[in-house]
Amino acid sequence: MEHVYAVILAAGAGTRMKSEKAKVAHELCGKPMINWVIDAVKGAGVEEIIVVTGYQEEQVRGCISENVIFTSQKEQLGTGHALMQAMPLLNGRKGSCLVLCGDIPLITAQTLRNLAENHINSGRAMTVLTAVVEDPHGYGRIIRDSMGNACRIVEQKDADEKQRNIKEINSGIYCYDIQWLEESLKKLDNNNMQKEYYLTDTVSIICENGGSVGAITLDNHEEMLGINDRVQLAAAERILNRRIIERHMKNGVTFLIPDSCIVEERVSIGSDTVIYPGTILKGSTSIGSNCVIGPNCMISDTTIDSNTKIIFSVINDSRIGANSTVGPFAYLRPGSIIGEKVKIGDFVEIKKSVIGDETKISHLTYVGDAEIGKNVNLGCGVVFVNYDGKVKNKTIVGDNSFIGCNVNLISPVEVKPNSYIAAGSTITEEVPEYSLAIARSRQTIIRDWVIRRGMIRGEKSDT
Ligand code: UD1
Ligand code: CA
Repeated sequence: MEHVYAVILAAGAGTRMKSEKAKVAHELCGKPMINWVIDAVKGAGVEEIIVVTGYQEEQVRGCISENVIFTSQKEQLGTGHALMQAMPLLNGRKGSCLVLCGDIPLITAQTLRNLAENHINSGRAMTVLTAVVEDPHGYGRIIRDSMGNACRIVEQKDADEKQRNIKEINSGIYCYDIQWLEESLKKLDNNNMQKEYYLTDTVSIICENGGSVGAITLDNHEEMLGINDRVQLAAAERILNRRIIERHMKNGVTFLIPDSCIVEERVSIGSDTVIYPGTILKGSTSIGSNCVIGPNCMISDTTIDSNTKIIFSVINDSRIGANSTVGPFAYLRPGSIIGEKVKIGDFVEIKKSVIGDETKISHLTYVGDAEIGKNVNLGCGVVFVNYDGKVKNKTIVGDNSFIGCNVNLISPVEVKPNSYIAAGSTITEEVPEYSLAIARSRQTIIRDWVIRRGMIRGEKSDT
């Protein structure tokens, strides 16, 4: 394709969202709405992208990391007025310009590419993408003349009874010849119900001035879903989520009940991994092959190597080595680096700690700010007492050591390799290598105390 530019309109407030946040900054599958549109435009092979911002301008621009050119629409006087703000940047350019709204996140690169190619090959002044939908409410309607050519678009609010029954709608996606676009924008007025400069009026202006307008009807009108409120936001998110999950399924990942899972855009998953229902995978999470994830896991920004199993757990910003198991009901907080063949069992919380290969932390344990070596066994109920009320301190547990049940390790403290700690100990000093540490008071028996105190709770026995 030669010389195709694009303008994305994203200055509107999106009042129907009832939000403090600009509409196009709302996220779908972890990616702001505007970026779905930008990525589709990029994928279509467009040379330069201009984004018109206005309402919550800083916030909208802050969402965008792609290389685009910004321009401002100070007052939101309509879609036509928004496009006028981009024209100085296209000044003197020859070629075609895609124009689309920032609130249509389902649009694909392929559709935009087809539109631009069709438009260029036809030599028309303007081409608009349309769809025939069951419920056209809220969209502009396509008016065709007696020859069947599109000659006008009427907005919902300006449409009469008969026009409202038209089911062919304007997608808000257009391709213009740049010179025709410039000329037609100069002739726009705001003589309508909303007192706005409608971009859609360029259709009738071009027709009246002898230009040809093509209207291409897209079969897959799902792509044109415009997001105006939270109901549509949810509908679009569902579709995008399904697209993402289908991509993974085609790459060899099994999802038992795909619609019960949420997988964000940037997540990668290796083949033969099985994802059970209720699993949410977010951010830059990367999962190896042959893993079993879920049911009911929420995993963000975490790397998980192959053959690892995670069940009913929450994991943030961590790493887990191959052949390990996590859960049920484990909570791995940021900075947890888990080795290979590790077992993290039920009700274990780990924070900012390194856990060596083949170590077992099977139940009811808190590990914070620790470095635990290889082949360590932590019994049930071990607590790393990392916080003294002021600062977080570090604990080191050497390779092959055995920490009994219900041990408190009062950090900073070090347990040298190959040592044992007796159950119930509270450790405050270094434990040397090959030693046993016992730090608990001895048991005392007071004979017949219960009888003397008259505190028998059941029948008294003869013995
Ligand atoms: C628009 C079309 C309608 C079409 C629909 C498709 C017009 C007049 N109507 O209606 O025919 O069926 O899209 O989804 O174009 N914007 C600005 N500045 C403004 C106003 C809007 O940048 O002053 C931006 C918004 O940020 C948004 C886009 O333009 O991304 C569309 O605006 P919106 O108010 O949602 O238009 P619709 O009423 O949906
Ligand atoms: Ca809209």
